[in-house]
Amino acid sequence: MNRLSRRSFLASVASVPALAVAPRAVFGGGQPQAAAAPFHARGLSQMTLTVSDVKRSLDFYQGLFGMPIQARQGSSVFLRIGAGPKFVALKQAAARLHGLKPEQVFVGNGSDEVLAHAFQALLQHGKPILFPDITYSFYPTYAGLYQVEYRAVPLAEDFTLRADDYIGQGEAIGGIIFPNPNAPTGCLLGLDQIERILQGNPERVVVVDEAYIDFGGQSAIPLVQRYPNLLVVQTFSKSRALAGMRVGFAVGHADLIDALERVKNSFNSYPLDRPAIAGATAAIEDEDYFRKTCDMVIASRTALVVQLEALGFEVLPSAANFVFARHPQRDAAELAAALRSDGIIVRHFKSERIKQFLRITIGTDEDCGTLVEALRRHLGQQ
Ligand SMILES: Cc1ncc(COP(=O)(O)O)c(C=O)c1O
Repeated sequence: MNRLSRRSFLASVASVPALAVAPRAVFGGGQPQAAAAPFHARGLSQMTLTVSDVKRSLDFYQGLFGMPIQARQGSSVFLRIGAGPKFVALKQAAARLHGLKPEQVFVGNGSDEVLAHAFQALLQHGKPILFPDITYSFYPTYAGLYQVEYRAVPLAEDFTLRADDYIGQGEAIGGIIFPNPNAPTGCLLGLDQIERILQGNPERVVVVDEAYIDFGGQSAIPLVQRYPNLLVVQTFSKSRALAGMRVGFAVGHADLIDALERVKNSFNSYPLDRPAIAGATAAIEDEDYFRKTCDMVIASRTALVVQLEALGFEVLPSAANFVFARHPQRDAAELAAALRSDGIIVRHFKSERIKQFLRITIGTDEDCGTLVEALRRHLGQQ
């Protein structure tokens, strides 16, 4: 590795043994509700999902007596034989998509699992790691689980992340993680600022969680070739519309990926099943559908922001598939409860700094229309 000593990077993995009310509309989750699963992923049962390379292997159990009768309606062999720990086809597809080598790609059971392994394998445990005070709620959870010290760095007054707050702390910190765009604010950090953070922390791993990047941001993945301290994490749950499949991936220097593989293989060597691998691979190949559905979500977001602002909401600039909005005259918890009584669920957070905001996931145009109509009524603007 260039400027980065492999030892300091992998210090924390050294001890890991090798291989050893029925809602009418829900706006509270992070899923793009305007998009169904990609066409190719929907055609799973017709895909050529053969195991012709496997003749008779006696080194792993293959379910000698077939599957339960309902499951056999799919392809028997497809589900009877394990997927193996390497996920070659999926890694190759993701690597091709981003102009990388398969050994620069790690895949896991949702990006949550990938992030958890990053906390355990890549972020040093003896010094505080940094992440924003308003951010993805799983970061403090993983820090607690793996006993990683952390410091929550306050976002600026306008809820943007200031790169300067993450620079110049040298040996005192154990790593950095943040989502881009951030969740639940939706605010985007430019690649120039991410590069400043990377350059300011050459001996620390910087994890950029790009769960929502496809809805309006520029991915940091091209920076991976120049910065061996960068790990970019993405998911198939949002822009690829496959939340039910639980597939996430990370890209970075091969040494970072190797560290993640070692943790994964000591925890669960087979985190993805065959349908998930096939679905995710197909989704990568269905670029047209991906672009089309992202554009639809972006167009719905633009329209919703206009309508919310017309109702008097202040909406933070969002590059995600949700918006974060507050109304200067109305209590957010009360608004959320009023919407819930209509069968419309939006997300309200109790923490002090954001307790007057609602996070509203972009739905179909019809969903958004229902929401705006209900808000208009609750705000007495009819
Ligand atoms: C910022 C962020 N990262 C990661 C995830 C996890 O996504 P998944 O585990 O479905 O890939 C989420 C889910 O909402 C998220 O908001």
